[in-house]
Amino acid sequence: MGERITLSVIKADIGGYVGHSSVHPRLLETAERYLAESKLLIDYRVAHVGDDIDLIMTHKYGVDCPEIHHLAWNVFLQCTEVARELKLYGAGQDLLSDAFSGNVKGMGPGVAEMEFEERKSEPIIVFAADKTEPGAWNFPLYKMFADPFNTIGLVIDPKMHQGFRFEVYDLVKNERVEFSLPEELYDLLVFIGAPGRYCIKSVYSKTTGEIAAVSSTQRLNLMAGRYVGKDDPVCIVRCQSGLPAVGEALEPFANPHLVAGWMRGSHIGPLMPVGLDQAAPTRFDGPPRVVAMGFQLAGGRLVGPQDFFGDVAFDKARQTANEIANYLRSLGPFEPHRLPLEDMEYTTMPEVMAKLKNRFVKVGRQEDLEPATEELGAK
Ligand code: F6R
Ligand code: MG
Ligand code: MG
Repeated sequence: MGERITLSVIKADIGGYVGHSSVHPRLLETAERYLAESKLLIDYRVAHVGDDIDLIMTHKYGVDCPEIHHLAWNVFLQCTEVARELKLYGAGQDLLSDAFSGNVKGMGPGVAEMEFEERKSEPIIVFAADKTEPGAWNFPLYKMFADPFNTIGLVIDPKMHQGFRFEVYDLVKNERVEFSLPEELYDLLVFIGAPGRYCIKSVYSKTTGEIAAVSSTQRLNLMAGRYVGKDDPVCIVRCQSGLPAVGEALEPFANPHLVAGWMRGSHIGPLMPVGLDQAAPTRFDGPPRVVAMGFQLAGGRLVGPQDFFGDVAFDKARQTANEIANYLRSLGPFEPHRLPLEDMEYTTMPEVMAKLKNRFVKVGRQEDLEPATEELGAK
């Protein structure tokens, strides 16, 4: 039997280079150096997508471990110092508090963690996205674990045929609910089709009861009650032997779906799968991007990463995403490219409204109409 391992992916935007596009190499070096000194970890990798630093860590202390969270917090503090020295953009933006309180959840950084018994062979994928929100994983997780047109294993692998259990968070009411698929597929879709509010937090195999996937669910803008940056989520998926094959986990990204985020966190755009060397958003601060890092675990050691979306097989998806991006950009400030009023992270509406408030007049009933309009009506 394998040993119990915890995989923790903790991420934060500590300052952009240049603007909100990428992470300066010195921040990545600082994070590497700090994690290398830690005695808590079995192994680690430092990666980035866009302006977000991802700490990928393995250890034996379970999820929500205060020491591991504190370690990540301290890495981000060290990186913040470098970011301030280089005057990087938005230095320290995701550290919402000055003092660490035992768990980074609710303090700014995003977290996806799972504890499991390492199998005879343990292939996993860490997905990380920039310029979008946690609900961006709803569509691909649904495809991977519930759609037989994506995952043929659901039909022809006896270890998958029973289906999967989905845990969904309501980010507004702070509640969780579970669905058993395939029986409750239609019920699940009522919720996860609204990814701004309902997010798939985790997925479990019904055959083994084992955890199969977990996502980060923080919505910084809601937590802070004001705009503090995009959530830019991460997601871990275990693969093979009764779970989606690596290729089934990657397949949903061949058809770039639309996600909320992009420029000023206030637009809809295609989620573009990219290699690690293309993970720096440019056009209109985007389009939103996702990378996929594959690892084999060996006693908790991270063997990898394999840069899956760097492959030519995703060239067409990038081309499609660019075509969708072109079309959406042509709509400029109009919905549905620009998000509905209540979902935008930036707005000038209160100021504009205050300025114009005396110019609004009632419409509809005759006695409410302005004299000029009445005269027109009398003709
Ligand atoms: C979106 C994002 C960027 C910024 C934009 C304006 O998540 O990070 O698109 O919103 O560059 O940034 P500020 O307001 O800092 O000038
Ligand atoms: Mg940023
Ligand atoms: Mg970001």
